[in-house]
Amino acid sequence: MATIINGKEVSATLRERIRTETERLVRETGVRPGLAVILVGEDPASQVYVKNKKKGCDQVGFLSREYLLPENATQEELFSLIDALNADPEIHGILVQLPVPRHIDGAEVIRRIDPKKDVDAFSAENVGKIMIGDFDFVPCTPAGIMELLEAYGIDPAGKRAVVIGRSNIVGKPMAMLLLHKNATVTVCHSRTVGLAEICREADLLVAAVGKPHFVTEDMVKEGAVVIDVGIHRTENGLCGDVDFDRVKEKASFITPVPGGVGPMTITLLLKNTLTAAKNAAEKGKRA
Ligand code: GUN
Repeated sequence: MATIINGKEVSATLRERIRTETERLVRETGVRPGLAVILVGEDPASQVYVKNKKKGCDQVGFLSREYLLPENATQEELFSLIDALNADPEIHGILVQLPVPRHIDGAEVIRRIDPKKDVDAFSAENVGKIMIGDFDFVPCTPAGIMELLEAYGIDPAGKRAVVIGRSNIVGKPMAMLLLHKNATVTVCHSRTVGLAEICREADLLVAAVGKPHFVTEDMVKEGAVVIDVGIHRTENGLCGDVDFDRVKEKASFITPVPGGVGPMTITLLLKNTLTAAKNAAEKGKRA
């Protein structure tokens, strides 16, 4: 039976470290990290995320601002808010909660945010830096997974890692971070032929598929580390992309849903915001 990776615990430890570092940054430089979160429309799931981001900011001593724009806000209105926040010295991180309503171009929104304040690491500049391996910000979900691996002493070096999913937010950056840590990485997707066979080769399997219980025990090698990025609401409560109850009997480590990867993501957003604030403080010293 696998060790169950406790994301809540790792997240709490990391938040405490962020809080301490924030106190020091404020004391030594007068710079308090500031995060602006923009939500367009009233999607209930997005409202919960935004509320949790504010709670996270309060916990670690950040300044946080919330901007709730109506569903029918224009792209121009959103862009002028982003422009103002780009120029605001109190704000170091800007996050526009995705998805945005259909009349707004999400790719343009990402382009509009100053890459120095792009704490999601979604911009071409930050994605390019991740590719090169010289980066400040890492997308929150893959970065959270790397923190979990480290906390449990799991070194990706030399391991066969298989990532199921190739999204810009999870799959692609996940593959890159694992590669930087010297794993041998395969990225699988909806057009992959022989998926189960490839997964069975994995020492480290990351499931970011978006389908409940997609990864079954026959797809998992004995002793593999299994990371579940999925989250699905079902009649029986929340579940992930992995058939947890069966796979846990075969894996060496496994993340549960909820309580695995989920609690890490906002914490990594806070870490990116702290990094942005430190960079701004450093630049202020040089100016
Ligand atoms: N919506 C769901 N996850 C995310 C995220 O990580 N960042 C942003 N900006 N929006 C999201």
